[in-house]
Amino acid sequence: MTLNERINSLRERVEQMQAQNKDELERLRLTYLSKKGEITELFNEFRTVPKEQKAQLGQALNQLRQAAEQKMDSLREQVAQVAHQAEVRADLTRTPDPISLGTRHPLSLVREEIINIFSRIGFTVAEGPEVEDDKHVFGLLNFAPEHPARDMQDTFFIEKEEGVQKPEDILLRTHTSSVQTRVMTAAAERFKTDKNASIRVLCPGRVYRNEAISARAHCFFHQVEGLYVARNVSFADLRQALLYFAQEMFGEGTRIRLRPSYFPFTEPSAEMDISCHICGGKGCAFCKNTGWVEILGCGMVDPNVLDACGIDSKQFSGYAFGMGVERIANLKYRVKDLRLFSENDIRFLGQFQSC
Ligand code: PHE
Repeated sequence: MTLNERINSLRERVEQMQAQNKDELERLRLTYLSKKGEITELFNEFRTVPKEQKAQLGQALNQLRQAAEQKMDSLREQVAQVAHQAEVRADLTRTPDPISLGTRHPLSLVREEIINIFSRIGFTVAEGPEVEDDKHVFGLLNFAPEHPARDMQDTFFIEKEEGVQKPEDILLRTHTSSVQTRVMTAAAERFKTDKNASIRVLCPGRVYRNEAISARAHCFFHQVEGLYVARNVSFADLRQALLYFAQEMFGEGTRIRLRPSYFPFTEPSAEMDISCHICGGKGCAFCKNTGWVEILGCGMVDPNVLDACGIDSKQFSGYAFGMGVERIANLKYRVKDLRLFSENDIRFLGQFQSC
């Protein structure tokens, strides 16, 4: 093929060039116009043609290159326009695809609900350390030195004096009553000078007990405890606050029952049951046909505890209660296996209402 013929054939191909997108444009540029492109190659060959043909062939070559460049420009414009139209076709007012936000942990939901209910009758939240000393967990709470709860079997000790417990022994708190002793000792001065001083706190938090892990027990769980100290606080006040809580948490028709019990730090002490919210008190498998389910421990703060914390028990009295968040969550959501709460399986966690 002569150079002239090759120019003419290339010209035809250039006229037929098509491109749908930027990649195809680039491929055309490489084929024809780049340093190794076919048109550039013809220019290289042009150097070797006899002088008398140069004028005609040179002109034809220049026209070919020009035509190729013009065609590329118009194709580039076409591609840009198609891309722009695709963008305009997208509906920019459309609401975006929903992003999955995850859900709140059932224990967080229940803890928040407990706090919300009590905050409506004046309780505020107090928090304290999980790593505590013997004094705040047991000593100030009227536990005798040989009380079994202090035993290695129940309590995780971090440092322990061999054989005896000392106030400086360090341990993981077994209940959030330790926060109550901190709040009371911190308020002691106020109670000495102000006859109308009062404490009304909720103590939510994680607690630890040395138990074998099973469907019904774990080595850690969560509590919300409450404490009210003021002048003339009575057992009737306690009962009323707990009735209010039970009905807010489990429904208006819920009844409560207080059974005598024992805690070192309260006197008298009681265990509270609510009427079974599943059978309404008639008796079912859930309440083992008794019509009642146990939900918390409570009582009047033992005068020894008030005095140990620096609050005069002759002038002030108080009530306290404590409940397991897992227990309340079990009743509310009927979770059979406690371990589910700490396994982080999103198939379980995703079933609870999101925030
Ligand atoms: N501290 C008790 C527990 O952990 C609960 C409780 C708190 C009982 C306050 C009575 C009064 O089991």
